[in-house]
Amino acid sequence: MRSTIIFALLAIAFAVAGTSRALSPSSGRILGGEDVASDQFTFAASVRLDNAHVCGGSIVGEGKILTAAHCVIDDNNQVVASGRVSVRVGSVNQFAGGRIVYVADIAVHPSYEYIRNDIAVLTLSSALVASDKLSIIALATSADQEPPVGAEITVAGWGEQSSGTTPYKLQSTTFTVASDEVCSNGYAGNDETTFCLAHSLKQGSCTGDAGNGAVYNNRLVGVSSFVVGACGSRYPDVFANVTHFAEWIQIQLWI
Ligand SMILES: *[C@@H]1O[C@H](CO)[C@@H](O)[C@H](O)[C@H]1NC(C)=O
Repeated sequence: MRSTIIFALLAIAFAVAGTSRALSPSSGRILGGEDVASDQFTFAASVRLDNAHVCGGSIVGEGKILTAAHCVIDDNNQVVASGRVSVRVGSVNQFAGGRIVYVADIAVHPSYEYIRNDIAVLTLSSALVASDKLSIIALATSADQEPPVGAEITVAGWGEQSSGTTPYKLQSTTFTVASDEVCSNGYAGNDETTFCLAHSLKQGSCTGDAGNGAVYNNRLVGVSSFVVGACGSRYPDVFANVTHFAEWIQIQLWI
């Protein structure tokens, strides 16, 4: 059997399963290469650790950001201190514009383990105000709101484009929802908690793209979790299934 190497998509890449191997730099832009207009993906947030972008996130409530759990977990498997985490919202530029808001509280899914149940909700220290550059994205809460296999989904992020270069401007690329068979071929642990988005070779998610939101019909359906192999490999990228976690997420929105 082919060995599966899985990379969590933190800014500092680390292997969480299988043999550790350096992230292979890839030529071409990893996440695709389209600049996002300032009135698109207005729910997207840059999640920052110690004031540097580490992951993407989605604005799911006035003061709430949904991201991947591993973005806020340290090397000792502890949740990082909330005071080290902030978000930039309301800007396609990860270095300027919009607003930086600090995180007051971090809720990691209670069943999170390595790459399993890889979601967390950040509570911000102050509420966000919607504008033409900032919006709240609704959650997909039932199976009929999920995309069918073969549906196209455009995902935006500030992850690596190529050979360690990170874009200042939000980039987007289009994925195709992969079948369970194709998904499981790359990731044997595929089940109801995850779904997979296929991409062209040398495209897709890369370092810094964890936590990015996948939206279908104006609802958040997935949270970018990890890639199988290296960025841009032939295997689809794995996302946490928002519908599966919707109840837990909604409870966090009320806390
Ligand atoms: C996502 O979760 C929902 C609710 O648990 C489930 O019905 C659906 O099949 C899941 N989707 C995938 C692709 O596993």
